[in-house]
Amino acid sequence: MIVVSGIQPTGNLHLGNYLGAIRNWVKMQDDMDGDSRCLFFLADLHAISMPHDPAQLKSNTLEMAAALVACGLDPARCTLFNQAQVPAHPELQWLLNGTARMGWLSRMTQWKDKAGKNREGASAALLTYPVLQAADVLLYQATHVPVGDDQKQHLELARDIAQKFNNDFATEEKPVFTLPEPFIPPKAARIMSLRDGSKKMSKSDPSEMSRIELADDADTMAQKVKKAKTDPEPLPSEIEGLEGRPEALNLVSIFAALDESTPEAVLAQYGGQGFGQFKPALADKMVEKLGPIRDRFVDLNGDREQLDAILARGAAQARDLAGNTLDAAYEALGLVRG
Ligand code: TYM
Repeated sequence: MIVVSGIQPTGNLHLGNYLGAIRNWVKMQDDMDGDSRCLFFLADLHAISMPHDPAQLKSNTLEMAAALVACGLDPARCTLFNQAQVPAHPELQWLLNGTARMGWLSRMTQWKDKAGKNREGASAALLTYPVLQAADVLLYQATHVPVGDDQKQHLELARDIAQKFNNDFATEEKPVFTLPEPFIPPKAARIMSLRDGSKKMSKSDPSEMSRIELADDADTMAQKVKKAKTDPEPLPSEIEGLEGRPEALNLVSIFAALDESTPEAVLAQYGGQGFGQFKPALADKMVEKLGPIRDRFVDLNGDREQLDAILARGAAQARDLAGNTLDAAYEALGLVRG
């Protein structure tokens, strides 16, 4: 098993990232056997596809590295790095740009959402973003890519690109790329905003009240949960009773994910109670589960030298691992790699 996944260092790590993706990265790292390998990276090259502040990007990259280690990633057992230190990523992207089709890219939901009506004014990087994402995983022959539900479409595209490249430039016996499988947790694949149950929790939401950040202290978490949008009805005892109540469903799902139980079990315990009772219990659960991560994060985040060293070591490993696939891709295309 070769596990590869990334996160954009565009803001703080939030509960959606943690429950939807990072917690699974840690589990996969912990369950890894001798033949497996895990690579996790900060997608800082992806982060320049939208307007950004360079100083902020630099500090967010280190901060996100601290957050990942605080969540349980162990740089001795996985390769932890940032894309910008591994030029093989943008290099392979360019090679894959010859295979990716404009039609595929312009159908991506993220492109449509982020470019909005102003497509002419969007960066070319935003359009070719998924090709870099394909390069990220194909470079290491990834077999499993743990992500939240919103990244499924990008991974399907990575598979399409790999398949077309193999068909066009390789033989069936000796394909250049492995087709990666998205690995999406059945629970918590889509944590929603605390302010609007129809929108996913996101770093780019202008309202900080919409998301729980892993760097939030206990009081801030409790305040955000208290102010979370809900409806006036008490919680039902059965899951069917949450239909048409997206905010209530989201809070119950968050509780279940934190507690590693199920929404049904949460309703069996809290059914019949109002949010006045459920919200403080949810806030307590968050503080119990996320508090220790926050404490580790605060410690590590102060040690920039150690973080730089972790990323430099990870990047050296990644550069080594990327060489063979990059060579094979150049050769398949009739190019001599310098
Ligand atoms: P990003 O930085 O938006 O998110 C990182 C991971 O967190 C998951 N996630 C969520 N899961 C559940 N509920 C949510 N509300 C939520 N918000 C985010 C995402 O699905 C993701 O797994 N394009 C990617 C980064 C990337 C990448 C890659 C991922 C670059 N190259 C290669 C996998 C493989 C992104 O912007 O994720």
